[in-house]
Amino acid sequence: MDSKYTFTEDWFSEQNGEPVIREFNKFLSPYAGKPCKFLEIGSYEGMSALWMLENILTHNSSRLWCIDAWADWTGEAFKTFINNLSASGHKDKVEIIKGCSSDHLGNFSKNFFDFIYIDGNHDEKQVLSDAIMSFRLLTSGGIIAFDDYLMGIRYPDSPGSKTLKGLPKNSIDYFLDLFRDELEVIHSDYQLWIRKTL
Ligand SMILES: C[S@@+](CC[C@H](N)C(=O)[O-])C[C@H]1O[C@@H](n2cnc3c(N)ncnc32)[C@H](O)[C@@H]1O
Repeated sequence: MDSKYTFTEDWFSEQNGEPVIREFNKFLSPYAGKPCKFLEIGSYEGMSALWMLENILTHNSSRLWCIDAWADWTGEAFKTFINNLSASGHKDKVEIIKGCSSDHLGNFSKNFFDFIYIDGNHDEKQVLSDAIMSFRLLTSGGIIAFDDYLMGIRYPDSPGSKTLKGLPKNSIDYFLDLFRDELEVIHSDYQLWIRKTL
């Protein structure tokens, strides 16, 4: 990404072992230049948020909501996120909500977002809560992407996997089963992407 930004971690780009930017390109390109509302749960230093702002949320009225607890382990990430956002020139399109996702998702109206990226706390309870609460907020035809669907399986020895309470996959599979008559899976690999059909 642009050298005007500072990143200490990369969980997104072609330089990452899981270059999830490819799915973002493939599934979000149809939204480029159109008025839309996106939500990101887990923004960290802003790499995925900035990519969406620069490449997809290009319409004047498009907006991005970023909810992040900026948990203790993230150190200076909140400051870096703010600096990166200021450098981007897209600050006015972003609503920043600092806190746990489950304390804030209930404040949005139903069928509000066109796309939701779930990349916050990966423990089983939190992923299940994010999935169910987010699904309510999604427009019909809207998309949810779950990061790290296979995290504890593909990278069992990573620091992230070791601190997890359970596997994100367990919660996501349970959610898929519960809502199977209201969604279709459009991509399943390291990430899992669904479209709301009702
Ligand atoms: C992997 S990072 C996000 C990376 C970002 N999406 C990217 O690709 O550049 C995960 C983020 O989730 C946040 N987080 C952890 N628990 C959370 C919670 N309960 N609610 C909201 N965000 C949370 C952390 O503070 C951290 O910044």
